[in-house]
Amino acid sequence: MALQQSIDLALDSNIGGGGLAQAALDDALGLVGEAMKRLAEDDASGRLPLLHMPRTTDDLASIREAAAFLRDDATDVVVLGVGGSSLGGQTLAQLKDYAVPGTGRFTESPRIHFLDNLDPITFDRVLHKLPLSSTRFVAISKSGGTGETLMQTIAVLTALEKAGLRAHPKDVFLGVSEPRKDGVKNALRDLLEPEGVRFLDHHTGIGGRYSVLTNVGLLPAAALGLDIEAIRRGAADAYEPFRNGAAAKDAPAALGAALNVAAAKAGKGIAVTMAYADRLERFTRWWVQLWAESVGKDGKGTQPVAAIGPVDQHSQQQLYLAGPNDKLFTVLTTGVAGKGPVMNEGLSKRAGQAAFAGKTIGDLVAAQGRAMADTFAKNSRPTRQIHIETLDERALGELLMHFMLETILAGYAMGVDPFDQPAVEEAKILAKEYLAQG
Ligand code: PA5
Repeated sequence: MALQQSIDLALDSNIGGGGLAQAALDDALGLVGEAMKRLAEDDASGRLPLLHMPRTTDDLASIREAAAFLRDDATDVVVLGVGGSSLGGQTLAQLKDYAVPGTGRFTESPRIHFLDNLDPITFDRVLHKLPLSSTRFVAISKSGGTGETLMQTIAVLTALEKAGLRAHPKDVFLGVSEPRKDGVKNALRDLLEPEGVRFLDHHTGIGGRYSVLTNVGLLPAAALGLDIEAIRRGAADAYEPFRNGAAAKDAPAALGAALNVAAAKAGKGIAVTMAYADRLERFTRWWVQLWAESVGKDGKGTQPVAAIGPVDQHSQQQLYLAGPNDKLFTVLTTGVAGKGPVMNEGLSKRAGQAAFAGKTIGDLVAAQGRAMADTFAKNSRPTRQIHIETLDERALGELLMHFMLETILAGYAMGVDPFDQPAVEEAKILAKEYLAQG
C-alpha cells in the first residue's frame, strides 16, 4: 500500500478541545461498520460495479486501442465533457503535467485539453488556435444529454466543417456514452453516430464522479502513455482490506469515512483537503466534486474545500488557523525531500538564509507539509495526514479508490444516497427551459 494515513492529530487527546473525542470516533466507526456490511452486499450482489473495477482487465485492450487512435499523428487531444466526465481524466493527466503551472505548456505531443467549463471566449480561442488537422476529439457524456457537452460537440463539428477539412469526423472524433436504451434519447450519439463516429460504451452502472477507473478516466490517461493497468492495481490495493473483511478501524478508507462522519456530527461543517504537490491539484478538485455531489443532500453533508501547499499557506492559512474551528483538515504529502534544485551556499547566505544552503526545494516543501499539519494540531484544528512516498500511477489509483470508498461509506453512514444528484439534474432541466425561452 502506497498510502499512509494517520488520524492522531484529529483526536482531542492529542490536540486538545478542538479535536474529536475518541468516543465520537468510536460511534462513527460503528455506523461505518454497518455501512461496510452494506458495501460487502453491494459487492456480492454486483449492485456496485465500481467495486469490481480494480480487478477488471478485459476492457484494457479496447481502451488502449482507442487511445492509440487518439494519439496517432496527433499534436493535440481535446476532451469534451463536464463534471464526472472530465475531472477523473484531468486528475490522471496531471501525472503527465497537465495543468501544472509552468510545465503544462512544455508537455510532449499530444498536448491534452480538457474543455469542461463552458465559456464562449475560451471555446472560440481554443478552436482558433488548435491545429484542427492534427487534433483528435473525444466527447464524453454518460447520459448523452448534457447541454454543455452537446454545445461543445456541435461547435467542434461546425469548426471542422468551416476549416474545410477533408477529414470526415469519424477520422478525428471518438465518443463515450451509455449504450442506447429503448425509448431514451441519447443526443450525443444522435449527433455523432450519423457522422460515422465510433463510441466506447460508458459503464451503465458507474456514475460520472465514480468513473475515473473506467474508460472515462483511463482513455485520456492511456492517450498520454500512462500505465492504466497500474492505476487499477492501485485501486485494488485500496479495496483489499474490504475484500479481506477488515474491521472499520483497520481499513483506511473506512477510518477516513468515520473521521468525516464524526467531524460532521461535532459541527465541523467544512472538510479541507490540502495537497502539497502540484500533481495533486486536479485530484483535490476531483474530490471536491465527488464529496459535494455524493453527500450533500437531504440537508446533510459537509462543504469540501480544495487547497494546495505551500501556495495556499499564503492565501487561506490565516483563516484555517485563526478563523472558526469548524473544519476537518486532510494534509496530503508526497516524498519530495531531497528533490529539485539544490540551494547554493553563497547565494543562500547572501539572501540571509544560511539554513537553505545545500537543501533542496523538496526539502522545504516536505518541511512545510509537516509543519502545516503540526501547526493545525497546535491550534487544536483536527487534522488527518496522508503521505504517499512516490506519486505514480499505482499510488494515484489507490488514492482515488480510497476516496471513492470513503465517500460511499460516509454517505451510507450519514443516511444519504451517495450515487444520485437530483439537484444537478433539476438545474440542467431548468437551464434548457430558459434557453428555449430565449
Ligand atoms: O458525477 C456526475 O454524475 C456528474 O458530475 C456528471 O458527470 C455530469 O453532470 C456530466 O454528466 P454526463 O456524463 O451525463 O454528461
